[in-house]
Amino acid sequence: MTPTWFRDAVIYQIYPQSFADSNGDGIGDLRGVIDRLDHLASLGVDAIWFNPCFVSPFRDAGYDVADYFTVAPRYGTNEDLVELVEAARERGIRVLLDLVVGHTSSDHPWFQAELAAEGPAPEGDRFVWCAELPHRSSASTIPGTPGWVPSPGPRPGWYLRNFYDSQPALNFGWTTLPPDQPWRDGVDDPGPRRNVAMLREVLDFWLSKGVAGFRVDMAFSLVKDDAGKNAGAAASAAIWRELRAWMEGAHPEAVLLPEGAEPRTGAPFAFDADFFLVIHEPHGSLFDNHAAGRLPFHPPHEPFFDAAGRGSTETFLAAWEAARREDPGRPIVMATADHDFDRLVCGPRTADQLGAALTFLFTWGSVPSLYYGDEIGMRYLPGLPDVEGAVCHPDYNRAGCRSPMQWDDGPNAGFSSAPPEDLYLPIDPDPARPTVAAQEGDPHSTLALVRRLIALRRRVPELRTSAPTTVLHRGYPFVYRRGESHLVVVNPRREPGRVALEGAPGGAVLLGEGVTLDGGVVTAEGFGYAVIELGRTGRPRQPASMNG
Ligand code: BGC
Repeated sequence: MTPTWFRDAVIYQIYPQSFADSNGDGIGDLRGVIDRLDHLASLGVDAIWFNPCFVSPFRDAGYDVADYFTVAPRYGTNEDLVELVEAARERGIRVLLDLVVGHTSSDHPWFQAELAAEGPAPEGDRFVWCAELPHRSSASTIPGTPGWVPSPGPRPGWYLRNFYDSQPALNFGWTTLPPDQPWRDGVDDPGPRRNVAMLREVLDFWLSKGVAGFRVDMAFSLVKDDAGKNAGAAASAAIWRELRAWMEGAHPEAVLLPEGAEPRTGAPFAFDADFFLVIHEPHGSLFDNHAAGRLPFHPPHEPFFDAAGRGSTETFLAAWEAARREDPGRPIVMATADHDFDRLVCGPRTADQLGAALTFLFTWGSVPSLYYGDEIGMRYLPGLPDVEGAVCHPDYNRAGCRSPMQWDDGPNAGFSSAPPEDLYLPIDPDPARPTVAAQEGDPHSTLALVRRLIALRRRVPELRTSAPTTVLHRGYPFVYRRGESHLVVVNPRREPGRVALEGAPGGAVLLGEGVTLDGGVVTAEGFGYAVIELGRTGRPRQPASMNG
């Protein structure tokens, strides 16, 4: 059911606020993206994923939608989006939008109407209200988690929020209806069904304009109760299956991506992939050095991709293997970074150490998602101001990965002609900050490496998502085979390393630095990386293996 175009795709994520500002107001816009499409085409990506670009008060950077059918004026118009979709299509690039489904903004007219009412809407409430708190402890205290918020009135009582107070949860009903909680609707009651119909309308509206699909924010937060463990997720999944069944007829080429892994609640899957999120431990154990802070669920660890070389691939591989056992063919998206955390360059990991990380991310058996700016090694900027809800936990600042794209050495790094104080977020003040212009034409730049990695995936089917991935060495250097014929070696630590691979006498290095394969022995210098086409004489046998 997953459209073929997506199975081997490379995604590019654009945080629209910070990519390119064409009208000098200090905030990125769609015209700016249109003007920069040739850069994306030069990378060889297949799809752009935009963070939400709809009308919003931007208390959570646009994840608080006030009108699902209109592009936020600061980004342009619906016509600009259609023009962008067409201009991208001419370059072989599809456009994915971000669908925020679990909540709206409190400014949304639907919420304002329910707030102004005395009691439940006769046609069913779109939001979740209760007259009295179900439990005293359920009042929300921790930002970023669901909880009850006292109504500012006139409607009496409390409303349920999904993330911030300004993000009231949409009502998709409950699977259990205890008599002491009469405010709960069943999943088939009119309020919840109105919202499901609305989702379909939103999907249809944008897909009919040529959009290729959606990343769906908090997809499994629709039905809130977890009675009987996961009943909420199963009921949410049922809604997505229903929408998916309709989509397959109406828009068969479109994709749906969940924010994280789709819960295993039975067949068929409603989404086209799973996402190994950067804030979750399987991905974090590889890259997170806690430079952006730590969320309460982040265990302390040393990441594998780190000069000190004290990390491990075990947590990642266990999660990967489990996902593969469940469904060997299901695409798994892995991002270089995203708008919610840090970047590859952060803490002690410098841009000149990126070869190993990027080689892994573009040659592992996943769907790579390249976060804007990572193609030139932009860094996570510590200590930026809390703009548009970036600080959602005292120890966790998302602003540092949302700073403006660095295009050239013009004013504001070519991002905008606005005075610096009017920029959405400050530009990296480092005079040696990387830029696209400085890296163009430099064969040793991060940009050149990313382009070569993506081009190599295109040319060599064994390096794409759907070819099998077999791990040959789980430590430093990390070594795996793609298909039958290609070997990838990455050594993200400072210390060199060696591994004997039985049955792999030699091969040709297609791309890389500091790695040799000779007489069945891989030698990797510190920070070395390579993609090697194995000689015809044999393929290496593995000390530890994994298929998928
Ligand atoms: C998005 C966040 C957003 C949250 C609430 C997420 O998972 O990625 O940026 O703050 O949902 O909508």
